[in-house]
Amino acid sequence: MKVGVDYYPEHWDVALWEQDARQMREAGITIVRLAEFAWSRLEPTEGKFEFEWLDQAIGVLARHGIHVVIGTPTATPPVWLTHNYPDVLPVDNKGNAIFAGVRLHRCYNSPSLRKFGERIIEQITRHYATNPAVIGWQTDNELAANDCHCKSCTRSFRGWLQQKYGSLETLNREWGTVVWSGEYSDWDQVKTPLGGSPHLNPSFLLDFRRFSSDAVADFNRFQAALIRKNSPGKFVTHNLWGYPVTGDYYDMFDSMDFASVDYYPATDLLDDSKSRMYHGALTLDLTRGVKRKNFWVMEQLSGTPGCWYPMSRTPFPGMIRAYAWQSVSRGADAIVQFRWRSARIGAEQFWHGLLDHHGQPGRRFEEFVQFSQEAQKLTPLLEGTTLKHDVAMLFSHEQLNAFQIQPQADGFDYLGNFKRLHAALLKMGVGADVINWRDDFQGYKLVVAPMLYLIDETIAATLKRYVDNGGTLVLTTRSGVKNLNNICLPDRLPNLLTDLAGVYVNEYDPVGKDIQTLSLDSGEELSSGQWCDILTPVTAESIATYSSEYFADESAITRNAHRKGVVYYIGTVLDETASQILMRRIASDAGVECEFELPDGVEVAVRSSEERRILFVLNLSKESKEISLPLRDYVSALSDRRLPAGTIKLGPGSVEILVEENATAASAA
Ligand code: GAL
Ligand code: ZN
Repeated sequence: MKVGVDYYPEHWDVALWEQDARQMREAGITIVRLAEFAWSRLEPTEGKFEFEWLDQAIGVLARHGIHVVIGTPTATPPVWLTHNYPDVLPVDNKGNAIFAGVRLHRCYNSPSLRKFGERIIEQITRHYATNPAVIGWQTDNELAANDCHCKSCTRSFRGWLQQKYGSLETLNREWGTVVWSGEYSDWDQVKTPLGGSPHLNPSFLLDFRRFSSDAVADFNRFQAALIRKNSPGKFVTHNLWGYPVTGDYYDMFDSMDFASVDYYPATDLLDDSKSRMYHGALTLDLTRGVKRKNFWVMEQLSGTPGCWYPMSRTPFPGMIRAYAWQSVSRGADAIVQFRWRSARIGAEQFWHGLLDHHGQPGRRFEEFVQFSQEAQKLTPLLEGTTLKHDVAMLFSHEQLNAFQIQPQADGFDYLGNFKRLHAALLKMGVGADVINWRDDFQGYKLVVAPMLYLIDETIAATLKRYVDNGGTLVLTTRSGVKNLNNICLPDRLPNLLTDLAGVYVNEYDPVGKDIQTLSLDSGEELSSGQWCDILTPVTAESIATYSSEYFADESAITRNAHRKGVVYYIGTVLDETASQILMRRIASDAGVECEFELPDGVEVAVRSSEERRILFVLNLSKESKEISLPLRDYVSALSDRRLPAGTIKLGPGSVEILVEENATAASAA
């Protein structure tokens, strides 16, 4: 376990560096990430490189035993670059350049960005290749899909389409451009989606998003290759920006050693919807799923957020520590806090760090120090541990994009609905691996594959093989609607999945915010909304029927025994309580242990290795909570006290980390 901070030496008087480094060391910090926005200091004018200041800053940190991760500075092209080579600037969908000012004012397909980006990366990676204090690299900062309409992008998009479709005839057919006279007769007519209307051809829009995502993945690969060439033996990572996003993280990270994430949980939990409360857990699970292994948090909340909006609430007492432990509990092996000092200059003056503007340690700082000391103590215990689960959830950037292009009903939200199913598992203490829908999921007891809206033969066959071999699969409404080119499929829904699910959709109603009721065959009354499929079971049995409106008594949820496995089809979007009731039944049916009934805002997670199981119990809420633990013997890793199984009480933002004693004994025996 490593603990660190993000630090901007170039913003502070050199006289402060020594004091900062000493104070960092005293606080247990062993990692600093720096320089990711410092292009104008590293190359003040074209071709003139200055690394002395960074050598000095790294030297000061190294003397205090602190290692450094350097960010390549390509998220902030300096003024001389955009001034002399304006093709660096992205162009919006009305044809206007997006000028320098904030950040990210660069087009990944710009020849000048590539040229000068390559040069600064060559220089900096060579310069620090043998510096032992520099242990790794972060590419750029929070890459997001290009949404650029410049000449280079238009040209590259055309090339991308030529490669995909070969001929214009094929493109016209696959996109269905005959609608509204959109047919192309010459490649020069093909442009990026200009004009800004969301109602353009959905196949065109989806391909443009894919192209934009490919451009950013390619830009990341280009950086990774340069770094690896010049600076072998040091890791390369990138700090992803939460969800939802348009770029495909699975592609963007194929060139990275591990994933990192910037984690800023909401501080205003008072009026928090339950769903927002569980956003963090899903983000962290998604991050772990990007490379299917442990990850880093490269920016962790440390103070009052602001700048991009009026300031929100300051992290409540316990929050900084509890959410840092939450990150660890879901697979983080390093926590880097954003940021050391709150900025006195620039646009981010009010996005607070561990230290306020006056620089004196306060409540938040002390809480961080507590976390840091605990992390140090628990490092040997956590070494080699990760999360292992019986359940996988299949996530897809493709579906996310397609649903953003064509929202299905009032309130229908891919990520939100995904989160609800994830939270339902979480509430019963069932961990899930959230993985790419194209990844291998054959070994899991239960696979939840929500809203497989775009579908092809390959995924249909993979799902079938999984169920044939005894897996339990959960499918939901809005599955099998389209092919991958965003064209509606010709058969009854869920099309390629109909045989597997043993049910078809006879009719559907996008009910939006009209709440519906349904009865489960075990007697519970459930509520749902957004969408109602009126189902006709073929080989499946109906396990829930609607009890409202004209579709009362029609089937809403089915269960199909198929070969050695089982397929559930949920034809509507269940609310939180209903999702929990149904998922508990499904998980038990699949032989997954559902050991908890957690109160709102409480999360558990288990990190384990061959030798041990470590149970994290986190109260992420502002109220005290009681949690009843499964019958085992526990020792608190924090206090070293023995804990009898039973109920534990956790105050607001409190954490317990428990080593399961008999689990250790059992695996040792
Ligand atoms: C992150 C970004 C940081 C900082 C932070 C606070 O998204 O990577 O550089 O801006 O947000 O706004
Ligand atoms: Zn561009």
